[in-house]
Amino acid sequence: MKLVFATNNPNKVKEIQHKLGREIELLGLKDIGCDEDIPETAPTLEGNALQKAMYVYEKFGYDCFADDTGLEIDALDGEPGVYSARYAGEAKDAQANMDKVLVKMNGESNRSARFRTVIALVIGGKQCLMDGEVEGTILREKRGLEGFGYDPIFQPEGYEQSFAEMDLNEKNKISHRARAVEKLVAFLNQQ
Ligand code: IMP
Repeated sequence: MKLVFATNNPNKVKEIQHKLGREIELLGLKDIGCDEDIPETAPTLEGNALQKAMYVYEKFGYDCFADDTGLEIDALDGEPGVYSARYAGEAKDAQANMDKVLVKMNGESNRSARFRTVIALVIGGKQCLMDGEVEGTILREKRGLEGFGYDPIFQPEGYEQSFAEMDLNEKNKISHRARAVEKLVAFLNQQ
């Protein structure tokens, strides 16, 4: 069967294809000729992931899954959450996003937070949601140069390093995305 991952990143497609049986041929958006900006206008991660997967299903007729990720900070009532990419503005600037978090968290003692990835799968006309989380704390300053997004200010529980100080392979073993993908792969390989 053919299954679409609603992403423009061929590396993400390859990584997941590697974990799936041969019966599933995973395609990215480019492979199906979709070069549109798929709308992500829902107020939740679940809503956005479903919106993207349903867009491909309805417009292109393929079974599909899509993901959406956010950093949820308890002291900020779950912000930046679904707005993580553009927290400090449409430029989607990671440094500006982190600066905004650090300013808002100045003097705050409750620093607990989590990354959460939601995957929405639309398969055989059914919708299915899976998620993966990693708990941690928001640091008081940026640390490390690896990774992307909010990695320099997030320290996962049980570790002394920020995500940006960790080896990428190590981060990828424990990350929110890895945990959500694990559930997706287990589900698909059972079908
Ligand atoms: P997306 O849904 O994967 O596009 O993620 C939305 C935003 O969340 C990204 O633009 C980043 O700001 C942030 N983000 C997602 N995953 C990570 C991560 O693994 N580390 C740091 N930031 C992340």
